[in-house]
Amino acid sequence: MLQGSPMACPRSNHHVQQLLLDANNTRASDTPGRGDVCDRSSHLHFASSKNSRFQGVWEFASHTVENATYSETFCPFIKAKASPNYTSGSETMAQQIPKTAKQWSIVGTDGLDSLVYSEELVPEIGDTQVLVRIQGASLNFRDLLIAQGKYPWPVKPNVVPGSDGAGTVLAAGKHVTRFQPGDKVITTLNQKHISGSLDAESLQYGTGASIDGTLRCIGVFDEHALVHMPEGLSFVEAATLSCAGVTAWNALFGLPGKRVAPGQWVLTQGTGGVSIFALQFAKAVGARVIATTSAGENKVELLRRLGADHVINYREVEEWGVAAKEITGGTGVDLVVEVAGGKTLNQSVEAVKLDGTIAVLGFVGGEAEATGVPTLLQTWMRLFTARGLWVGSRDQMEEMCRAIEGDVDQLRPVVDRVFKLEELKEAYEYLLQGKHQGKVGIDISA
Ligand SMILES: NC(=O)c1ccc[n+]([C@@H]2O[C@H](COP(=O)([O-])OP(=O)(O)OC[C@H]3O[C@@H](n4cnc5c(N)ncnc54)[C@H](OP(=O)(O)O)[C@@H]3O)[C@@H](O)[C@H]2O)c1
Repeated sequence: MLQGSPMACPRSNHHVQQLLLDANNTRASDTPGRGDVCDRSSHLHFASSKNSRFQGVWEFASHTVENATYSETFCPFIKAKASPNYTSGSETMAQQIPKTAKQWSIVGTDGLDSLVYSEELVPEIGDTQVLVRIQGASLNFRDLLIAQGKYPWPVKPNVVPGSDGAGTVLAAGKHVTRFQPGDKVITTLNQKHISGSLDAESLQYGTGASIDGTLRCIGVFDEHALVHMPEGLSFVEAATLSCAGVTAWNALFGLPGKRVAPGQWVLTQGTGGVSIFALQFAKAVGARVIATTSAGENKVELLRRLGADHVINYREVEEWGVAAKEITGGTGVDLVVEVAGGKTLNQSVEAVKLDGTIAVLGFVGGEAEATGVPTLLQTWMRLFTARGLWVGSRDQMEEMCRAIEGDVDQLRPVVDRVFKLEELKEAYEYLLQGKHQGKVGIDISA
């Protein structure tokens, strides 16, 4: 069932464009803190856990908590008691902080079988960290890859998965300046990418991969790994912005001199999370969109409802890139948001215009094959820009959040099914089937 009401209000293109102009002229003055890559959490696992490390032992990395019992569990908020860890040295909503909280971990690389649900001691926060009650999350294709051991970037053992999360600040370390208890926040995926270009260090810090993520009831995050949540969204809707939202925003507006502008043509592929956001953002700035899909009437209807000017079934029209170019009158599209990978790149090259851009993001259509993929020489022979990108910076995330807050009806994230935290395996399976439209959500409210 679809939630949200896309296209319920007239567009306010001017507003979004102004935000883009403003963002060009500003830069965050903050510098990233040096949070730990691994949480300093203590562990209390059920004896049924698959990993021998978890066989009913208490592991205290940095502190001892006395008298904690399974009944003092967080999520739902039952019998929550103040933890002594948060009564001094930090701003708190101490009465809401229990000693333990539910969480998922990835133990191994066996896909769904690697997902382990357990109850953990709530970690202490450092001086620059923030304790967040996570109330909504969402899933990405990336989460499937991480559980299968196929993710190409660093993954720490037994990581708490999930890059996407939104919730409420419970406590803030004494040097935290960006947030205070009660603030509603969203996690960022690439925690060290604050602004400008990526660097080698920032590639090492992925939420839900090398750093514990959001598929838990309470999490500790560096204050620089969070942004304020836009008004008007639910926690699940807001969570969808951490990965798919900001990636689409970056694809459309992240390359100086090639930002999507009114009247330009954008080609999106399929009805997954990134592509749906790309369609919404493109329409918000007055661009024209050609969307592809493999699926039936309901997906075509969704694309139309969100403003797609043309929809092509890529299963029925093998040369959909050629068809897209014809739709533009033979010129080609300004931007292809390429999410499918090796099987679609050739048609993306057919679709793109002279001096246009292909934003290369992923391989949801299957792993790139060694043969048949266009070579880099094509960028010269056909004269286009191929741009690989990884999510987006915190500045871009904040820019996107402002745009959404200013036009929440048109830019409301499209959320398909919402599962409970304890139903995570079903949610992963649903995502794997690829029947979803937009995002698959996780409700962690209670
Ligand atoms: N680089 C980055 O920073 C970044 C960030 C986010 C995601 N990604 C990557 O981007 C890709 C998409 O992510 P997502 O979260 O949007 O995935 P998703 O929600 O799981 O997307 C699933 C949809 O992709 C479409 N699809 C599958 N094969 C296709 C093909 N051959 N041609 C066109 N569409 C196809 C299908 O749409 P229909 O059912 O309509 O056909 C399917 O429903 C993934 O590879 C992901 O890893 C990269």
